[in-house]
Amino acid sequence: MIAAKQSSSRADYGIDAPLFVLELIVFGAIAVSLAIAARAFLGPRQPWFFVGLGSGLSLICTAVVMLWGSKVAKLSLRERVLQRLDLRGDERVLDVGCGRGLFLIGAAKRLTTGKAIGIDLWQTQDQSGNSPQITLQNARAEGVADRVEIKTSDARQLPFDGNAFDVVVSSWALHNIYQPNERAQALREILRVLKPGGRLGIVDIRHTAEYEVVLRENGVEEIKRSGPSFIFLIPTFILFAKKRSVAT
Ligand SMILES: C[S@@+](CC[C@H](N)C(=O)[O-])C[C@H]1O[C@@H](n2cnc3c(N)ncnc32)[C@H](O)[C@@H]1O
Repeated sequence: MIAAKQSSSRADYGIDAPLFVLELIVFGAIAVSLAIAARAFLGPRQPWFFVGLGSGLSLICTAVVMLWGSKVAKLSLRERVLQRLDLRGDERVLDVGCGRGLFLIGAAKRLTTGKAIGIDLWQTQDQSGNSPQITLQNARAEGVADRVEIKTSDARQLPFDGNAFDVVVSSWALHNIYQPNERAQALREILRVLKPGGRLGIVDIRHTAEYEVVLRENGVEEIKRSGPSFIFLIPTFILFAKKRSVAT
C-alpha cells in the first residue's frame, strides 16, 4: 500500500470522461464553423445555418455542464453524501474507484484516528490525469496524507480480508464495469469487505436500480436511493445502505 506525505499545493480532482468532453467541444466548434460558412457562402436564410448553430451550441453547452459537474457540483454532492454517512472519526473507510481522491480525501478530512483507503485502476479515459501519484499529491495538498492510503486494484477483486471496513464509498466508478454480472461481483466484493452493520454510499449513473437489487439479494438493509441529480446531465443517483449486523 502507498501512503502519502504532507505538502502544500491545491488539490485538483480532474475532469470526468475527458475525451468525451473534448469531443463535444471539437464537434460543437466544427458545427458552429460550418453554420457560419453556410451563412457566408449560401446566404443568410439558409436552414443549414440554424441546424449547424443549434447543434453546435448544444454540444458546447453539454461540455460546459460536464466541466461544471467535474469541477464544482461533484464537490458539493460529495459533502452531502459524507454528511449523511456521519463519520465518527475512527472508522476505516474504503473508496472503490477513488480516482484522484475526491471522496477518499473528503472522508479522510472527517477522520481523526481512522484511515481512508482508496483502490483504483487509474484509467485516464475515466478521469483526466488519473494516477496514484496525483491522488497522493491531492491528499498532501488537503493536509490528510497521514490518514490516506491507496492501492492499485480492481473493484471486482478487492485485496482485503472480509469485514475490514466500517464504511465503503464509491463515486461514478462502477458504471465503468460494462458487464452486469461483473458489476454485481464488484458489489459482492464491497459487501464482503464491509463489516456487519457497516454503511455504504454509492454514487453513480445508469445502473443504480440494478445495484439496489444486488444489494438486497446480498444481505443489505436500510437501502435508500436518492432522487436524480443532473450534474452530468445523465441522472446520478445515490444509494445509501447498511450491511446486516446478524444473519436473518
Ligand atoms: C469517473 S472516475 C471517478 C473517480 C472518483 N471516484 C471521483 O468521483 O472523482 C471513475 C474511476 O473508476 C475507476 N475504475 C473503473 N473501473 C474500475 C475497476 N474495475 N476497478 C477499480 N476502479 C475502476 C477509474 O480508473 C476511475 O478512476
